[in-house]
Amino acid sequence: MEPKTASASLTIMTELVLPNDTNVFGNLMGGRLMYWMDIASALAAQKHCNAPVVTASVDNISFENPIRLGNVVHIEAKVTRAFNSSMEVHMKVWGEDLKQQKKYKSNEAYYTFVALDDHNKPQQVPGLIPETEEEKRLFEGALRRRQIRLILGGKMKPDDAKELKALFVTD
Ligand SMILES: CC(C)(COP(=O)(O)OP(=O)(O)OC[C@H]1O[C@@H](n2cnc3c(N)ncnc32)[C@H](O)[C@@H]1OP(=O)(O)O)[C@@H](O)C(=O)NCCC(=O)NCCS
Repeated sequence: MEPKTASASLTIMTELVLPNDTNVFGNLMGGRLMYWMDIASALAAQKHCNAPVVTASVDNISFENPIRLGNVVHIEAKVTRAFNSSMEVHMKVWGEDLKQQKKYKSNEAYYTFVALDDHNKPQQVPGLIPETEEEKRLFEGALRRRQIRLILGGKMKPDDAKELKALFVTD
């Protein structure tokens, strides 16, 4: 299976915040944004593996700035690293006020997807080649982030997380 570049998975989604997308404060509802992020990142993962995927986990979403009614939402999603059947996708989200010509950061997050075969079983995905400095940094950190989420999900013993432990324990 030929490895693919991170940039080949780049997915850009643009949405307009309409009244039905907002909370009582007139800001975009977190759940609506997470729904759009789920779609954008699933598309990035599917571009990488060319197979259907399911969301395995979502982590580290902290909303830094609310996005106002009538503003534009920009989501950029890219695969950071592929493992066996799973892929980590990094997303950056911005809001934009076109009238004020102001673009502001909303949040960043990592979603993990698993590729499924015709029998809905996890299937092997291609490896990922990071090219830019940012892609290399995200690729490097992906192994430790994977270990954290597998420990929290009860799928890995903390003692087995060698790369994560190396950050805290020195010989
Ligand atoms: C995600 C899912 C396919 C994993 O299946 P599983 O039987 O646990 O399979 P495995 O233990 O063999 O793990 C398969 C891959 O999932 C990854 N995985 C499992 N749980 C995970 C978690 N909590 N976070 C991140 N990755 C996870 C494993 O690391 C493994 O990756 P790898 O093949 O790259 O090493 C399965 O739990 C599932 O279908 N979950 C529901 C998905 C869904 O419906 N999502 C929408 C939510 S509404």
